[in-house]
Amino acid sequence: MRNMKMITAVAATLLLSGGAAYAASAEKGKVAFGKNGCWQCHGWEGQGGNAGPKLARTQLPLEAVMTFVRATNGPMPPFSKKVLSDEDLTDIYAFISAQPAPPDPKTIPLLAR
Ligand code: HEC
Repeated sequence: MRNMKMITAVAATLLLSGGAAYAASAEKGKVAFGKNGCWQCHGWEGQGGNAGPKLARTQLPLEAVMTFVRATNGPMPPFSKKVLSDEDLTDIYAFISAQPAPPDPKTIPLLAR
């Protein structure tokens, strides 16, 4: 009986601490995006550039982004946990996901003919 209580307590602690998702911050993500040089290829807002595709409002789930950034062996260099922590990458994900949609071109006077 005593053991049961112990197990329940441990399980509850795990659920409340280890199991709790990291609270991502788009603001911190913007800083990490700059610090880690993602902007050099993807643009400051993740809008895409000459050297990297658009990341803003990515449709990829966080897990896919994590896996890709850690293990890419294509034109993008991989970022290990040593140089970019899971927390920072989760913040970066929040930052690129929070980018606003671009305005409708019809609403931009310069583009009107
Ligand atoms: C040296 C240029 C470069 C840097 C620096 C760089 N990337 Fe990339 N990234 C790329 C290129 C090129 C691709 C497309 C690669 C491919 O398809 O294999 C890519 C693809 C990605 C993708 C997949 C996008 C998709 O929709 O398929 C993600 C996510 C990503 N980068 C995140 C990051 C993050 C986060 C950082 C900073 C920690 C970063 N990248 C830094 C060049 C770069």
